[in-house]
Amino acid sequence: MSEAMLDLRRQPKDRAYPQLHALLLNVLGGVDDDIAGMATISSMVHHAFGFLWTGFYRVIDRNLLRVGPYQGTLGCLDIAFGSGVCGTAAAERRTIIVPDVEKFPGHISCDARSKSEIVVPVFDAGGTLIAVLDVDSEKRGTFDQLDANGLERIVRWFAGEGRV
Ligand code: SME
Repeated sequence: MSEAMLDLRRQPKDRAYPQLHALLLNVLGGVDDDIAGMATISSMVHHAFGFLWTGFYRVIDRNLLRVGPYQGTLGCLDIAFGSGVCGTAAAERRTIIVPDVEKFPGHISCDARSKSEIVVPVFDAGGTLIAVLDVDSEKRGTFDQLDANGLERIVRWFAGEGRV
């Protein structure tokens, strides 16, 4: 792993996320490009925690998400609003934590190894939904409110927070 990559797998989450956030703001300093932000955030979140899949689905139409920058195995290309965890989070504009994907009705399986998942909405500075951040884990029950808080803070970069 490059020296800019943190390995936070042994850190408690309440210490891990602030470190990751600080490094991300540093790496993204001077960048004013959402796709570059999505690619960088996907890579750093993915490798810091060793997740199974980490990436963005972008809002490309009122009712459609399309895959954006990600890390991991092949992701589904398009997801309709209201479908799966991503489409539900987009339609309801809220973070969804899924401790066991088999218990989420309509969950879309892109990789059979995925056991739990969190999806966080991404807003621009005007409050418009521009994407969702989807993170998958090979273990059940990986994500909790600390992940929600940490990831929601990270994606506030797209609304201009810490973007210099
Ligand atoms: N599981 C997601 C689909 C995206 S993949 O996990 C990369 C869902 O149910 O929306």
